[in-house]
Parts: sequence; C-alpha cells; structure tokens
Amino acid sequence: MTLRQRSAAEIVAVRHRRLGPNLSLSYSEPLKIVRGQGQYLFAEDGRRYLDLVNNVCHVGHCHPRVVAAGQDQMARLNTNTRYLHDHLAEYVERLAALMPGELSICFLVCSGSEANELALRLARTHTGRREIVVLDHAYHGNSGNLIDMSPYKCEGPGGDGLPSHVRKVPCPDTYRGRHRGPDAADRYVDDASEVLRSHQPGVFFAEPLVGCGGQIVPPAGFLSRSFAAARRQGTLCVADEVQVGFGRVGSHYWAFEAQGARPDIVTLGKPIANGHPMGAVVTTPEVAASFDTGMEYFNTFGGNPVSCAIALAVLDVLRDEELPAHAASMGERFLEHLHELAQRHELIGDVRGQGLYLGAELVTDRETREPAPDAATSVVDQMKERGFLLSTDGPDHNVIKIKPPLVLSADDIDATATALDEVLAGL
Ligand SMILES: Cc1ncc(COP(=O)(O)O)c(C=O)c1O
Repeated sequence: MTLRQRSAAEIVAVRHRRLGPNLSLSYSEPLKIVRGQGQYLFAEDGRRYLDLVNNVCHVGHCHPRVVAAGQDQMARLNTNTRYLHDHLAEYVERLAALMPGELSICFLVCSGSEANELALRLARTHTGRREIVVLDHAYHGNSGNLIDMSPYKCEGPGGDGLPSHVRKVPCPDTYRGRHRGPDAADRYVDDASEVLRSHQPGVFFAEPLVGCGGQIVPPAGFLSRSFAAARRQGTLCVADEVQVGFGRVGSHYWAFEAQGARPDIVTLGKPIANGHPMGAVVTTPEVAASFDTGMEYFNTFGGNPVSCAIALAVLDVLRDEELPAHAASMGERFLEHLHELAQRHELIGDVRGQGLYLGAELVTDRETREPAPDAATSVVDQMKERGFLLSTDGPDHNVIKIKPPLVLSADDIDATATALDEVLAGL
C-alpha cells in the first residue's frame, strides 16, 4: 500500500484537526520515526536515535522472531477464545510456570488498563468490598475507575481529586518522601498499615517500582510487609507489573519477587507482546473461583491466537537471549556511570533503579533538594539533539527516566554517559 508521505508539520496539523487535543507529543520538535530495530529508532531523514525510554518494545524494536510469529499467525487464523487453540494453551502454561506459588490462573486482555480493571473486578468480587488503597503518585491506567485510583492523574491538572472510596498511602520515596532515614521502611510500612486498617479496602494496588512517582525503588521490606499488613485486613494485593515485568529488573522475572512480596493478583501489559496490544492478569485459583459468579467473562480480543503467538515469541527471546541476566549486568553498568556522573555534576541529586529501570533526579540545590524540572527538560532535549531519547517524570517532573529495550549494549551505555556528561557540563 502506498501512502502519501506527510511532512512532520503536516502530521502535526492533522493531529490538531482530527485527534483529541489532550493527546500529547514528545519533544518540543516532535520526531517522525519511520523504522525501529533493536534498541534504535530511525527518523524520516535516516537519523538514528538510541531509544532509552521504550519499555514496551522489550526485546528490541521489530525483533525478527516476534515479527515472524505475528505475521505467520495473522496469515493463518485470528479468532477468539471460544475455539480451542494451541497458542493460548501454550502461553498460559508458560506464563503460569513463570509465576511463584499459587499464582496460576490467567486472564488474557488487551492492555495494562484492561488488566488493572479486571484485577479490580476480581478483588471486589472476592472480598465484597469496594474500597481501594493505592500508593501516592501511582498511575494504573486510563479508564474511569483507574483514573479515580491514580493520584498521578486525578490529583493532577484537570483531575477531580481522589473519590471517597479511594485512599492513598505515602509513596515509599527515600530521597524526597516524608521518611528518608535508615528506618524509612518501618515508617512507610506503619503509614500503609494505618491507612489499610482504617479504610478496610477490598484491594491494595502497588507498583513494585513506582514509575510515575519518579522511578522510585521502595526501601527493602516495604512491599512485602505492607502486602502482609493488607492481607491481615482481608485485603487483596495487586502487583502492577505493567511497567516493570518480564525480567526488566534483572535479578528476577517479576519486580515483586525482587522485593520479596507476595501478591494475590499480578497485572501485566506493555512489554508482554513487544508493542502488540496485550495484557494479562494472573491470580490464585481461589480468587478466580470467586469471580466465577455465573456471569460469563468474555473478551473479544483477549487471548487471540495472534497475540498469543507474539507473546510466546517474546518469552522465547527472553529465554534464548538471556535478557533478564543482560538487564542485570547492563543496569549495573548504567548505575555505575550515573553515580560517577553524580560525583561531578551537582545537578544530579539522586540516582536509583533496578536492572534497566533507572532514574536520575535533578535538583538545583543538594541541601534543599529543590527540584530542577527545567534542567531535566533541557537535558532531555539536548540528549535528543545528540541522538539519545530520554524522558522526564515524577511529581516534580525532574526525574530523568531510563527504561530502554533490554537489548541495550555496553557501548550504548558508555556513549549515553559520555553524552550526558557533556550536556550536564554545558548547562
Ligand atoms: C504502572 C502502569 N499500569 C498500567 C498502565 C496502563 O497501561 P496501558 O496504557 O497499556 O493501558 C500504565 C501505563 O503507562 C502503567 O504505567
């Protein structure tokens, strides 16, 4: 199919004319990317960019095995889960085998938001309670229910605030949060326990590493102990692994395992099918049994043979290319560079992360920890000019996020550090 090629400016004009006005674009001068390969993206003019933010194309953009799996299955059959299909059977067996303990019953859906919506329904049906507890600054998805339980959105511009059935616990941020010292984990667990005890929710949702909160790594023991506190109230715990699952944290396949936590429900999305829209919910037989109320659960696209073929190829590539181990060693190398840069650039107030899920928090003053959002935006823009794609996040928009495809190489990391060094020196 030959399609009229529009210039970047023409596409911007069409977007303004035809799309909802609050659909945002990255960068003040938006990029027209026409091709992806591995960890690289290529613009219309042929310029190559290192993609340091796309945790969706997890095993690399357009991985040939993933592409072939999708193409092959699309040419054969795509239908729904009311027919028997080997790909579905194989995928849920493999996914369940990757989960610990009783987490063995899968529901396949089409996005991270859909996974979290379903998790909410499962928990509410199982416990009979509507109340929800979340971490401050959390984002769990774009549906009405999920916006209401995402402080990042409902307490931000245009939001209506947290509704009364949702309560938040402080984000376990040991750099900028309310508890910072060696007893931070205890204090944050106390805070969470108190909210859980007084609100008696049906469900406690937590990202094992808090993405929109600014790439926050909770202090050791926070997640496991606050999940245990929730369980004591009869509350179900959901680990939202939509950002961080599938080996990104390196040491483990799932970030909740790296934190020693035991969820009742795990939600998956983004990387699950390397950019093809898919999600999953994995839970225990007991929770799944409660959901079997007599009402059929049907999902037109969830678990279709094409999605399952693609998701299976992702698991194959993760295993055959040993990408979780690669994420662990590349993450260490990246962190070393960032710590080294922090020694020379006062602007870097904190460096944190696990595996290839990293953040560098910029501040104008290390003592007061005054956030430096303008500097962060400037770093991202200047890095883009040098061919490195990054983004910012966190409540103060001053955290540089690093979450690349896992195929990132040591040379890529070294080149990123050199470019960051130059950019920071020039600010
Ligand atoms: C932690 C988390 N959960 C859920 C979602 C929703 O996923 P999706 O946009 O694929 O629906 C996101 C999206 O950014 C997310 O970051």
